[in-house]
Amino acid sequence: MASKLRIDQLRALSSTVFHGIGDSLSIRASQNHHIRHFSDVSSPTLSPAGSSSPPPQNVELKTAPQPEKMNINASTTSSVNQIELAKFSAISDTWWDAEGPFKPLHALNPTRVSFIRSTLCRHFRRDPCLVRPFEGLNFIDVGCGGGILSEPLARMGATVTGIDMVDKNIKIARVHADQDPVTSTIEYYCTTAENLVEQQKEFDAVIASEVIEHVADPAGFCQSLAALTVANGATIVSTINRSMRAFAAAIVAAEYILRWLPIGTHQWSSLLTPEELVLILQRASISVEEMAGFVYNPLTGQWSLSDDTSVNYIAFGKKISQQTD
Ligand SMILES: C[S@@+](CC[C@H](N)C(=O)[O-])C[C@H]1O[C@@H](n2cnc3c(N)ncnc32)[C@H](O)[C@@H]1O
Repeated sequence: MASKLRIDQLRALSSTVFHGIGDSLSIRASQNHHIRHFSDVSSPTLSPAGSSSPPPQNVELKTAPQPEKMNINASTTSSVNQIELAKFSAISDTWWDAEGPFKPLHALNPTRVSFIRSTLCRHFRRDPCLVRPFEGLNFIDVGCGGGILSEPLARMGATVTGIDMVDKNIKIARVHADQDPVTSTIEYYCTTAENLVEQQKEFDAVIASEVIEHVADPAGFCQSLAALTVANGATIVSTINRSMRAFAAAIVAAEYILRWLPIGTHQWSSLLTPEELVLILQRASISVEEMAGFVYNPLTGQWSLSDDTSVNYIAFGKKISQQTD
């Protein structure tokens, strides 16, 4: 009874924290730039892979060459924050424990996959009804951790490369992916985006989910993400807003009250507002086209897509082609 009361109290408290604090201070991405909210986007026109529908004007749907084996020993590591990497190294054996420190990422996964699937199907003119709409496209999951996101990307047909600077994460990701023939095709490397830029690697879609808040130089990191994205390709970044509401939810509640994450996982000063992310992506030649918030319902334990970007959010952008500038 005591523990039930405690859970109920925590749920009520977290509900207050998640939904009641900082409404007036929360920042809406839509106020300062012209980005479609996810909910504004009408259902995509179905355009099965291989159909003759023309690509959007000015969008050259050239696909990136299939990746060759990577040289993981290149030296540039400007995005690496050793303190952040040590935090992930310490809990690396828990990546696939759905009740462990990565529980929030496991819970968030279907929701972010839904955004990624929808935006990339629209962008690449693929049929979202197909089981494997991304056949023939090369994706990279930068800061892949244990592969929680890389695996569904591979199941949707993409040729997936996952990279992370924590070697233990890569080993865990490899072992887990090898349990299924479909995901065993994923190439995992312990390296940085900068190292792959040095090797002039390019991908049709570059995805960095919940990583930018852990890197040393977010603007430089975005430059690397952009350099890895083929002209007219897609870049997707998700992260946590630097709002009062996010401070209450993602740091106070998630780390100190609910103990979902080890204390200190997120540094307030390292968080970016949607406006800041859009700006640094724009400066890196990535034009953000769509944005959505992730909203957590503490009663159901479910995440959903929303226009509310005040806590967690995800942005889809396309690489501006040099020819069409
Ligand atoms: C919160 S986890 C997110 C993992 C994965 N993207 C997901 O959402 O399931 C952040 C990951 O980024 C990795 N990371 C941090 N800085 C990095 C960098 N500069 N280059 C590559 N990986 C990095 C960490 O090791 C960690 O695995």
